[in-house]
Amino acid sequence: MRYLITSALPYANAPLHIGHVLEIVQTDVWVRSLKLAGNEVFYYCASDTHGTPIMLKAQELNTTPEELSKKYKKLHSDTYKSYNVDLNNFHTTHSKENKELTEHFFNSAFEKGDIYTKEIEQLFDEQKNIFLSDRFVKGECPSCGAKDQYGDACEVCGKTYDALDLKNPYSTLSKSEPVIKKSKHYFFKLNNFKEFLNETVSEISNQTPIKEKLKEWFDSGLKDWDISRDEPYFGFKIPNEDSKYLYVWLDAPIGYLSSIKNWCDNNNIDFNDFINDSKIVHFIGKDIVYFHLLFWPATLKAANFPIPNEVYVHGFLTVEGEKMSKSKGNFILADDALNYAEADFFRYYFSSKLNRDISDINFSIDDFIQKINSDLIGKYINIPSRTLNFINKFNNSQVKKGCNTLTASFRNKYDQVIVYLSEKEYSKALKEIMDIADSTNTYISNEEPWNKAKNEQIDECISVCSEALNVFKDLNILISAIIPTTADKIFSLLNINKQNYSNLCEDSLNDVNEFKPLLKRLEKDNFEGILNNNE
Ligand code: MF3
Ligand code: ZN
Repeated sequence: MRYLITSALPYANAPLHIGHVLEIVQTDVWVRSLKLAGNEVFYYCASDTHGTPIMLKAQELNTTPEELSKKYKKLHSDTYKSYNVDLNNFHTTHSKENKELTEHFFNSAFEKGDIYTKEIEQLFDEQKNIFLSDRFVKGECPSCGAKDQYGDACEVCGKTYDALDLKNPYSTLSKSEPVIKKSKHYFFKLNNFKEFLNETVSEISNQTPIKEKLKEWFDSGLKDWDISRDEPYFGFKIPNEDSKYLYVWLDAPIGYLSSIKNWCDNNNIDFNDFINDSKIVHFIGKDIVYFHLLFWPATLKAANFPIPNEVYVHGFLTVEGEKMSKSKGNFILADDALNYAEADFFRYYFSSKLNRDISDINFSIDDFIQKINSDLIGKYINIPSRTLNFINKFNNSQVKKGCNTLTASFRNKYDQVIVYLSEKEYSKALKEIMDIADSTNTYISNEEPWNKAKNEQIDECISVCSEALNVFKDLNILISAIIPTTADKIFSLLNINKQNYSNLCEDSLNDVNEFKPLLKRLEKDNFEGILNNNE
């Protein structure tokens, strides 16, 4: 089976933080485990470049949004590499492919009558000459009177409202009082797709809390979607308009397809055949479900494009129990984190917490240190560190053939790990792997190869160590989607090529290399400053 997999396109105006890492690890582990099962898998991402915040940030830095987004595209794709993400293409939404596809989507929907125009009133900042979206206007909540609330909802009483209803509104850009101004906007008739969506989303979303949320949205009625913005704006112009642009959230998900198209063009592959003959799976955070499960399938349908097979949602990452924020001092940048521990350790830690649930996942430094030390150092790497030396010393570094009783006894558990990984239940997969590592360590403790060596029962000693190493080799296959760099080092230690699921339980070990410590214990003292080392 062929899979095309994406994670959400990061905004090209800030470096990635470890919340992004959670998502790209979740995606990459799935990509790699599908490959281990023998599938053909491609992973695509891109920079999300358009919109007001990027335009304003570029102004502030005296540069252009094009330059700014180029800089972040490079930075983000480097961060992906640093976390050993097995990506096929990192493209950009500010590209010729995306312009063409977006215009095609707009024109198809417009011709079919799925887009109409209507005059609306909005708050306008006369000093900055710009219409104010909800996040650039604040005022008093029309419901409870709380001060300094944004244009869409009150953080104090939780009510949602229209920005025009705010009392004493002010622009967050100039602090001036906005005026009300009219403008023509383009609307996408989401309601034309109500039935289609109702059927489709139940197929592409398989997580209970998401299903419930969607039902709520259907029950309360779908609103048509405003897909236009007035200038100044950084984005694609609306066909046949001078000063109106397409809203960033229309062209952003189209960026998934543009990244695939760009890759297909570079590899001489027919884009349409390729996407029609593949399963498409998007990994996203729970804040952008509405865009991916309602707007996106409807947009695709309007232009007769294939609908994704699955949209898979994760919760947010908290740090030390709280939402990450620079002012709280718990903000960790993705690149900076790697100064404190290697990428595989973050990959392991996040995977040990990920499952089908969408509740938030917490990163705590103490828990991180304890988890890595106890699982990877204390259990996992402990297996070769207790056995390999005997093979090196007493058997000329030859693993004995036919010692696969222990590993054969775990075959059902291996299969269970494979099922968990395919179900994206990584925490359960790792728990199973660590249980097998525990049992193997118990086996070694009971068999005491060191005493056998002392008592000149060399053959028995070598048998025990070979039994244990065969399990370790298989665990390494199973864990290689999660900690790929470590797994590669272990395969070279064991002197075998990269393996996949079909190699489980094979009696493949021969000549092995000298044991050397591959992983270092984490020490609390070395984490000084990780929470406060920001830009
Ligand atoms: N840039 C958006 C965010 O960070 C995600 C865009 S995902 C896509 O929330 F679907 F629009 F591509
Ligand atoms: Zn309120």
